Amino acid sequence: MVSIKSIVFVGTLVSAVKASLYGESNQNHTCILEPAVLSCSAQATPDQVDSCCTETYGGLLLSTQFWNTYTGLEAQGQKLPPNSFTLHGLWPDLCNGLYDQYCDLTRQYDPAPSPNTTTGLPNGTVVPPYRGPNIGTFLEPFGRYDLLDWMNKYWINQGGPNHDFWGHEFSKHATCYSTFDLPCYGPEYVEHEDVLDFFQTAIKYYKRLPTWEWLNEAKIVPSNSTTYTLSQIQGQLAKKYGAVPYVGCSGPRYNTTAAGIAANSTDSGRTVISEVWYYMHVVGRPQDGNSIPVNATSPNTSCAKAKGALHYYEPTPGSVQGS
Ligand SMILES: *[C@@H]1O[C@H](CO)[C@@H](O)[C@H](O)[C@H]1NC(C)=O
Ligand SMILES: *[C@@H]1O[C@H](CO)[C@@H](O)[C@H](O)[C@H]1NC(C)=O
Ligand SMILES: *[C@@H]1O[C@H](CO)[C@@H](O)[C@H](O)[C@H]1NC(C)=O
Ligand SMILES: *[C@@H]1O[C@H](CO)[C@@H](O)[C@H](O)[C@H]1NC(C)=O
Ligand SMILES: *[C@@H]1O[C@H](CO)[C@@H](O)[C@H](O)[C@H]1NC(C)=O
Ligand SMILES: *[C@@H]1O[C@H](CO)[C@@H](O)[C@H](O)[C@H]1NC(C)=O
Ligand SMILES: *[C@@H]1O[C@H](CO)[C@@H](O)[C@H](O)[C@H]1NC(C)=O
Ligand SMILES: *[C@@H]1O[C@H](CO)[C@@H](O)[C@H](O)[C@H]1NC(C)=O
Repeated sequence: MVSIKSIVFVGTLVSAVKASLYGESNQNHTCILEPAVLSCSAQATPDQVDSCCTETYGGLLLSTQFWNTYTGLEAQGQKLPPNSFTLHGLWPDLCNGLYDQYCDLTRQYDPAPSPNTTTGLPNGTVVPPYRGPNIGTFLEPFGRYDLLDWMNKYWINQGGPNHDFWGHEFSKHATCYSTFDLPCYGPEYVEHEDVLDFFQTAIKYYKRLPTWEWLNEAKIVPSNSTTYTLSQIQGQLAKKYGAVPYVGCSGPRYNTTAAGIAANSTDSGRTVISEVWYYMHVVGRPQDGNSIPVNATSPNTSCAKAKGALHYYEPTPGSVQGS
């Protein structure tokens, strides 16, 4: 599935094809010896700290989740977890809210790059489609079948196999962290160790952010008969998280729906809840999980703001695991 981030503009990464962001050595990244520095603070630059130990590139992290009602691959057994948003990714935005993508084409495991150039423009560096064994197979030599099982339960694609989506998330986003850069793993780096490390880190944050339960606590439950208001949903999630998350919607614009037309509304926000993005800064490596919630950048939603404008749909019968 394509990450929908049309609201932000792509930053400029000059060295898009290099195997490491800063060309750093693979020695001496003993993070326990390094000061605990907050990402996006004044000290968090590669000349002042070890970029393997403090995130100096994509220091505004987003833990992102989807709400979908089907996968499109139900016939092959690819279904949604019951009562749960699904994992989308863990994105490294630049501290100014822009972002880079596909930062290391030596780690390109995305079968359908989107966009297909590093800048998204026709004159950008082409991101070649990956044709090798799917990224899920990278976990097998590590014996991590339990992790693969978990990922097939909660890290779900729509319209394509789950592993294609994992490859997309890794190559588009994880390669733009200084702290997941290959030299950080030292001279005894084992191939794909960084992939395993990233998957586990993305899961670590996802597990702390039980969106479905948080909404349920406020009696906001999936319904095909009730509608909700953005402030209700975003307010409850902000209360539980400690900062305002981005709430993303798909579907028709409110001013084109029957309800919007009847209300003579000029609200052109979309009307079907589909994503939540939680923003944070991290102290030290993202892998260590020491994060501080921060408010979403502006705009903090793509949804309609009108009262009762939003659908939080129930999954399709037969699209849920166990059904
Ligand atoms: C690694 O650290 C040692 C001991 O401090 C130092 O002598 C060496 O120059 C460092 N190597 C690199 C590549 O930074
Ligand atoms: C990238 O995608 C665009 C839009 O689909 C297409 O026109 C273009 O030919 C593609 N470029 C490459 C290098 O595949
Ligand atoms: C690429 O194209 C964009 C938009 O068409 C333009 O602004 C930019 O200067 C071009 N970059 C290069 C390196 O040619
Ligand atoms: C609908 O809203 C527009 C713009 O706010 C206004 O000009 C128009 O008079 C309204 N029409 C009705 C029927 O209320
Ligand atoms: C809905 O709003 C958008 C943005 O303001 C506008 O372009 C579009 O024409 C509107 N559609 C209708 C049916 O009013
Ligand atoms: C975050 O947003 C909340 C709610 O709008 C606001 O009260 C708070 O001041 C914001 N925090 C920061 C640091 O901007
Ligand atoms: C979302 O952003 C808008 C515009 O910046 C702001 O007015 C609003 O308070 C923000 N929402 C929350 C819940 O803080
Ligand atoms: C609820 O509505 C959504 C969107 O139309 C649909 O995909 C889903 O199948 C419906 N679920 C049920 C239980 O009717």
